[in-house]
Amino acid sequence: MNILVIGGTIFLGRHFVQAVLNAGHQLTLFHRGKSNPNLFPEAEHILGDRRLTEDLKKLEGRSWDALFDPSGYFPRDVETLLDVVGLNVNHYTFISSIGVYPHGKEGSNENSPVEELTSQMSRDKITPENYGPLKAAAEAKGEEMLSGKTLNIRPGLIAGPHDPSDRFTYWPWRVLQGGRVLAPGIPEQSVQVIDGRDLAGWILRLVETGTTGLFNGTGPAQPMPMNRFLGTCKESLGSDAEFLWASEEFLAEHKVSAYTEMPLWIPSESNGMNQADISRALEAGLTFRPIEETIRETMEWFKTTDRFEDGLRAGISRDRERELLGELSLKGESIEKE
Ligand SMILES: NC(=O)c1ccc[n+]([C@@H]2O[C@H](COP(=O)([O-])OP(=O)(O)OC[C@H]3O[C@@H](n4cnc5c(N)ncnc54)[C@H](OP(=O)(O)O)[C@@H]3O)[C@@H](O)[C@H]2O)c1
Repeated sequence: MNILVIGGTIFLGRHFVQAVLNAGHQLTLFHRGKSNPNLFPEAEHILGDRRLTEDLKKLEGRSWDALFDPSGYFPRDVETLLDVVGLNVNHYTFISSIGVYPHGKEGSNENSPVEELTSQMSRDKITPENYGPLKAAAEAKGEEMLSGKTLNIRPGLIAGPHDPSDRFTYWPWRVLQGGRVLAPGIPEQSVQVIDGRDLAGWILRLVETGTTGLFNGTGPAQPMPMNRFLGTCKESLGSDAEFLWASEEFLAEHKVSAYTEMPLWIPSESNGMNQADISRALEAGLTFRPIEETIRETMEWFKTTDRFEDGLRAGISRDRERELLGELSLKGESIEKE
């Protein structure tokens, strides 16, 4: 196949590009040349800003079997792109997010309602409030402009090597440091995450078969409670970590922020985001490597980055964690060894 990727040099797009190259397809990357500009010398690179029609015009007069778009956040991103290349592609994949669903208690499937943009929400800047509604509006824009040719993927938290966010990475990193580890909320509450390589490989298979429609894209196949996830980090990394569980009330009282200070964790009243229904994706062939592999390979990669020593972009600071662990111990909270 002949595939055009808008981006492809940071994380999910990068894994997708690698999968495309491994499969022997022809590839064109369109990006600004700012992020990892020397990656993939074997592919064709066209430099430009996707938000500028004059730059996109460099793509005119060409045609592609498939267009993969991991870098669109606003409906106008999709509109500007498809205005120029829409007629020249047979299939369009837009990377959306599980964040399109309202943050409720229950999990959502692809027929569940999505968040809508309100008049108060910014149309120019991405915020935690408008991210989901903007992605939903961008999906709809693609459908409107390329009806019957679009594939919209709604990933949950993406994990693995090259993740720039450190949200998943925080846990294996912290467990590897060992000692007492602050663990959030209800130990049995499930969390969802998908290895970027599994997601990318599956999306490529959907592209190759010309699949269209909407798919949630997260994992694992069976619910994974937070305590099992942390226990697996401990075992896979041979760590002596001991988990001290802070209740939801304790975390709320100390204003510990969900997902950023305690990545993956969401209070139970809004944990729907960790319970997305993935049955459609499973039927469409989504498979998962063992989480142990993701944990180990994420750490192998992370050790090669400066952030391993210099500080992560997500997760609670060690000082604040120490303070909270001290308070928890005074309260006599029990340590769960596994
Ligand atoms: N990470 C998660 O847990 C998670 C969860 C759900 C959904 N998602 C979605 O998954 C996608 C993640 O993609 P990624 O960042 O990993 O993809 P990526 O394709 O690996 O990286 C983004 C690419 O877009 C390019 N780019 C950025 N702005 C551009 C512009 N204005 N014009 C042209 N190129 C531009 C960047 O290169 P240059 O900077 O050089 O231009 C880079 O190559 C996002 O859509 C995100 O919303 C992520």
